[in-house]
Amino acid sequence: MKLAVLPGDGIGPEIVAQAVKVLNVLKSDGMKIEMEQAAIGGAGYEAAGDPLPEATFKLAQEADAVLLGAVGDWKYDSLPRDVRPERGLLRIRKGLGLFANLRPALLYPELASASTLKPEVVSGLDLMIVRELTGDIYFGQPRGIATLDNGEREGVNTMRYNESEIRRIGRIAFDIAMKRNKKVCSVDKANVLETTELWRQVMIELAKDYPEVELSHMYVDNAAMQLVRAPKQFDVMVTGNIFGDILSDEASMLTGSIGMLPSASLDEHNKGMYEPSHGSAPDIAGKDVANPLATILSVAMMFKYTFNDEAASNRIDKAVKTVIAQGHRTADIWTEGCNKVSCSQMGDAVVAAM
Ligand code: IPM
Ligand code: MG
Repeated sequence: MKLAVLPGDGIGPEIVAQAVKVLNVLKSDGMKIEMEQAAIGGAGYEAAGDPLPEATFKLAQEADAVLLGAVGDWKYDSLPRDVRPERGLLRIRKGLGLFANLRPALLYPELASASTLKPEVVSGLDLMIVRELTGDIYFGQPRGIATLDNGEREGVNTMRYNESEIRRIGRIAFDIAMKRNKKVCSVDKANVLETTELWRQVMIELAKDYPEVELSHMYVDNAAMQLVRAPKQFDVMVTGNIFGDILSDEASMLTGSIGMLPSASLDEHNKGMYEPSHGSAPDIAGKDVANPLATILSVAMMFKYTFNDEAASNRIDKAVKTVIAQGHRTADIWTEGCNKVSCSQMGDAVVAAM
């Protein structure tokens, strides 16, 4: 297994270091894992003047899977858009064809009180957001900021999806639902946006291939509301890039902390990039206080989706459940009576539990 390890910016290096400890446990137990590190995001810009240096992209292309920390830092906000850290992330997603972004939101029973919602609303929550990742208004042309004839500036972005892009992400969602509770909720804004009217049509066509799956549709504004009103009504949600970006942040908070949520971004052949759902948190970078569990759980997803190794995946998941049950908590999920640990102590606890 060849892994490209891209720590990135902010807390990226600290959390990735904990995930590497976990990989090293598997390695010392005989698994053949090769890891190579490279710079991305602001770190790529510092190293090579490019948020996705060519050498990094090549390494990622040649690897079987990519482990990513996070990108971005306020100090790069004044750079031209093309060399900002986020561009590196968007380019690697697009360049590797990682169109399927899986973002689970799973509540650990012990963390129910860390959620801002009432425990009875969130306890037992287990939903999967399937977000399309390489299309939509994120990539649609035309785009830009131009000056009109009257001297006024105008910003333009374009929401676009073609049928095949919608169908392939739809298939992923239906296939995942078949292994879960067989419910797919497709989120769109078909009452206003033609792009998503087509989205809805294609989902309805696709549903014919999955007679066992119950397909429902929801407008994105209602979906945002339902997620905080009654999130347990959902099993799999499938949606486009921009709606998925927003709804997945919302869903993550139902579980108490975005610091617990992993993600997978897959291509057509299940090659994947695995990263925590959260960002680079520059305000706490270098302080050894970040929660590494989302990154560690991303490694579990890697074994499940790319390497088809449920045993290794479950072993990591179980170790995380154990450390939570033991009462270890980083600051973001800490509540009175628990054992407050640093980022590296949390990594060590997971290693011990394994
Ligand atoms: C995410 C992030 C990215 C996105 C940013 C950093 C470009 O918010 O992965 O959700 O918008 O996709
Ligand atoms: Mg986001």
